[in-house]
Amino acid sequence: MRRSAAFREAARLSSAAGTPRVKAALARALFRQTAAAWDAWYGAFHRAEDTDLGPLADRLSRLARGGRLLEVGCGDCRLLAELAGRCRRVDGVDPSARALAFARGSVSGLRNVRLLRLEDWSLPFPDGTFDAVVCQRTLNILDPEAALLMLGEARRVLRPGGRVAFNLANFHHEPFLSALTTPGASPWPSLTRPRYWTEEMVRAALPRVGLEVVSLKAAAWIDVVAQQSATNGRRPRAAQKSAKAPAVR
Ligand SMILES: C[S@@+](CC[C@H](N)C(=O)[O-])C[C@H]1O[C@@H](n2cnc3c(N)ncnc32)[C@H](O)[C@@H]1O
Repeated sequence: MRRSAAFREAARLSSAAGTPRVKAALARALFRQTAAAWDAWYGAFHRAEDTDLGPLADRLSRLARGGRLLEVGCGDCRLLAELAGRCRRVDGVDPSARALAFARGSVSGLRNVRLLRLEDWSLPFPDGTFDAVVCQRTLNILDPEAALLMLGEARRVLRPGGRVAFNLANFHHEPFLSALTTPGASPWPSLTRPRYWTEEMVRAALPRVGLEVVSLKAAAWIDVVAQQSATNGRRPRAAQKSAKAPAVR
């Protein structure tokens, strides 16, 4: 892939001192690079899938109890269009302008849908806005720290008692393990470098962003439903004193 201007900017910034301002600028540059890569993917490879997304939409919409739901990484909105028929209001966010251009076709005429282009790692909604947040087939293309950042944001925009549903590629799934040990056999396009997780990694990481597991099912994907934990990302005082590594927020 040709190096984008954003990539060059990120490389230049990464050689500078690691001040918070520089780190924030680097993070923004990397975000723009991801958006550009997905724009290219939707332009060159996008095609409709014929999977029936109804059963998945049934399961996910139940988490919002018919209320207000957000899909993070909504892509071309095929899933979101199904969710819209089952919830009072559905918002979708995605950093790729091309994805959202395809999406407008999927959701045209649906009055309870609003789509927004993500500009940065933060979700453009106030705290406590949604009954449920869903994020399908999206966190697996992010570095673990970035995936946790998005999950922390999902937790922030959830109402008390709300649920977040997401999935991650399972490292222990046999076809993935075979692909990982066979050069060039990745099941996904290389520009979106997939990341693999284990059940143990998920359970260990979620408390860092104030979430706890409600249910977890591991097959090819690790499907997780989580909720705000009692400590909500804060650690008990004693643990804070002895901690050396900062929590991911
Ligand atoms: C494989 S598509 C999945 C689309 C949809 N959720 C589905 O299941 O069909 C991954 C989507 O994640 C989006 N994405 C990439 N980085 C993201 C980020 N940091 N936050 C949210 N979405 C992101 C991409 O633009 C792309 O549309």
